[in-house]
Amino acid sequence: MAARSPLVNVMVNAAYKAAKGLIRDFGEVEHLQVSKKGPADFVSQADLKSEQILKRELSKARPDYGFLMEEGGGTAGKDNSNRWIVDPLDGTLNFLHGIPHFAISIGVERDGEPFAGVIYNPISNELYWAEKGQGAHLNERRLRVSARRKMEEALIGTGAPFLGHGDHIRFVRQAEVVIGKTAGLRRMGAAALDLAYVASGRLDGFWEEPLNPWDICAGIVLVREAGGYVTEIGGGGGMMTSGSVLAANDQLHRPLGDLLRGI
Ligand code: IPD
Ligand code: CA
Ligand code: CA
Repeated sequence: MAARSPLVNVMVNAAYKAAKGLIRDFGEVEHLQVSKKGPADFVSQADLKSEQILKRELSKARPDYGFLMEEGGGTAGKDNSNRWIVDPLDGTLNFLHGIPHFAISIGVERDGEPFAGVIYNPISNELYWAEKGQGAHLNERRLRVSARRKMEEALIGTGAPFLGHGDHIRFVRQAEVVIGKTAGLRRMGAAALDLAYVASGRLDGFWEEPLNPWDICAGIVLVREAGGYVTEIGGGGGMMTSGSVLAANDQLHRPLGDLLRGI
């Protein structure tokens, strides 16, 4: 059995606690689809509750770490090297529509670099975890990115910018080029899981812009520890600040990047 470090165990335990509430609330949301008011307010409450549980559990275990949380923003800690970067519910729109594809994503940034991560889908009970130098895992299984070398056999994930965000025309042009060269394209709706899927070889590559640090911190560690590459679409290393992300197996990272950079 793969041995998890104490740090990873802290993240896993926090994710399991927060997941209980999300599972309960997801059951409710399925009923609320047909109500006049709709589930939107209920879902933002579910999101906030998950964040509160994660904050409480993570700070209990590591009181000096700082935080960057999607809802609560940044809080400095006494420890200047380490901070938690947390998305309490990634895939909110799926959750809102009763689609069981969402996750909790908890990352640790150490000295400005993604260092460890846990991504947990409570519905499928798939727990992805990774720590720098310790490999990437799905539950007890060690992960490795896919070995596909040919673009025409590759399944690629992406994220379309939401209404009022990002450059829609550019996205459509990128998608057009990728569809024309690969086996298929998926827009699954939870960027943290997209990265976990690249790490586990389900997807051969993924790109999206703009994302936030809480969408990608844990996933970057997973992909790298599974032997894949993560950069900005342009090839640089500033994903955590620019939000531009290109992740793929070691064979396809360059050709996928070349396609996207041609836009
Ligand atoms: C979103 C999801 C989605 C991605 C968006 C993110 P949220 O996060 O990861 O797949 O396309 O850019 O904002 O809002 O569900 O936490
Ligand atoms: Ca997110
Ligand atoms: Ca979120």
